[in-house]
Amino acid sequence: MQPIKWLVDFIDVRLGIKEIYNKELRGYLLPRNVNVWYTLGAVLMALFTLQIITGILLLMFYVPESEKAFASVQHIVNNVPYGWLFRMLHAIGANVIVIALLLHMLSVLFMGSYKGRREFTWLTGFTILNLTLGLCLTGYLLPWSQLSFWATTVATDAAGAIPVVGNYLVEFLRGGPTVDNQTLGRFFALHVVGMPLVLLGLIGAHLFCVKRRGISSAPFGPEYKASEELPFFEHEVHPDGIPFFPNYFVKDAAVISFFIAFMLAIIFYAPGMFFPESAFQPADPFLTPPHIKPEWYFLWAYQTLKIFPSEIIGLGVQVAFMTFLALLPFIDRGPERRPAKRPFFVTCYVLGILLFVAISIWGHYS
Ligand code: HEM
Repeated sequence: MQPIKWLVDFIDVRLGIKEIYNKELRGYLLPRNVNVWYTLGAVLMALFTLQIITGILLLMFYVPESEKAFASVQHIVNNVPYGWLFRMLHAIGANVIVIALLLHMLSVLFMGSYKGRREFTWLTGFTILNLTLGLCLTGYLLPWSQLSFWATTVATDAAGAIPVVGNYLVEFLRGGPTVDNQTLGRFFALHVVGMPLVLLGLIGAHLFCVKRRGISSAPFGPEYKASEELPFFEHEVHPDGIPFFPNYFVKDAAVISFFIAFMLAIIFYAPGMFFPESAFQPADPFLTPPHIKPEWYFLWAYQTLKIFPSEIIGLGVQVAFMTFLALLPFIDRGPERRPAKRPFFVTCYVLGILLFVAISIWGHYS
């Protein structure tokens, strides 16, 4: 222990890290009634870090050219030591991140945590959600399998439904009339540099908003307080709360471990869960597979375009829904946060979840 103490003292006299520890970790107090749903933000940070690490490892062997991409992924999986593990962690991690993002958003919705002047926190989070879906879309093309190729063709086709600029937008996304080597080039650039950089900035902004405004207390139990909208800035503090470190950090670490165990369980016991047969065949632009579907989290959007007599109506419904979600903190302005006392909005959220699941299942089987 002596060398560790020496090292800590050595750094402390130069950078004052004990002060940071006492103020930002031990001294950062969370509300007493904080529950397990508040760990999902930390889970997301851990999962994104894992994506960056596994992504960098994959980049060492991946070749972003249509002639070589599929073979390079096969090489990673079959020949590179532990390549299969990094590839699976990255591909399955993308799905688990979407699950964690949806759960985090649902907890914020049901506990009304977007209230009390937390509009910026919500808006940065909502943008992160969309950007993450963009990262999933661009990443999906990179293995250049039949699945990648045709799912991207279907997804980019959808942009054609937008009036006036639709066709131009499809060509812009693809870099030409069809999904091709140019599409792979631009998706690759966006996936490995453009989008992650913007995402990191947005996560920083999101955490700044959470920290600056102060975390809300859970809307349950005797400590519940309604979210008053004061005409001036207020940093919400919890002087009798529990220290973030080590008390809450232990809970964060337990839930992060659960998510990692969940991912490993899929890798070891159900590795094919997110990989249909077409994921193992190289892309062939002249052979359309019989059942091509986008990823599960895009199924609702894919099916909505098909339900209505014209795609423009379907697109309009999607835009209206996403706009409602983005502007929610400006629409639901009441100070009440207890779910049982907000029957209208809570019913909307429950119906929204049921509709999302039902339309996705319909999309999967149609
Ligand atoms: C990379 C993705 C994200 C990360 C890393 C992240 C991180 C965090 C963290 C660490 C917290 C504080 C603890 C907690 O409540 O979990 C938080 C709170 C919050 N997040 Fe996120 N978040 C992400 C995405 C989102 C999304 C998609 C939304 C909504 C659309 C959102 C909305 C909020 C709101 C409103 C709070 C405030 C909760 C409160 O004060 O009680 N976040 N986020």
